[in-house]
Amino acid sequence: MNDWKVICRVEDIPVLGSRRVARPRGVDVAVFRNAEDQVFALLDRCPHKGGPLSQGIVFGTSVACPLHNWTIALDDGCARAPDEGCTQRFSCKVEGGQVLLDPVELATLALDLEAPQAGPCR
Ligand code: FES
Repeated sequence: MNDWKVICRVEDIPVLGSRRVARPRGVDVAVFRNAEDQVFALLDRCPHKGGPLSQGIVFGTSVACPLHNWTIALDDGCARAPDEGCTQRFSCKVEGGQVLLDPVELATLALDLEAPQAGPCR
């Protein structure tokens, strides 16, 4: 059985937006809220070229990456066809209006990936 960690309240996440959860190691986790107040958690790193999904626009149960507009499904972290690839999904639940994540997953999943570095376009 998991010990879930309270992250924030649902209303702390902007509708059709996200909040980032910093981890001691690894890329941040983005926690998204859609128009139906469903909440999802993905690694804040697009499977295309590492764009910050937390800065994307949520629609339905997807987010549009802000860099090249790939559509990433919030429930499994995978790109919608014809694009391919998935980002790490994190377990997430809402209880009593609070958003909870699994601390074991936060501490162990996708630690080998680095956040994209800002720099000149090539
Ligand atoms: S980095 Fe997300 S679509 Fe290219």
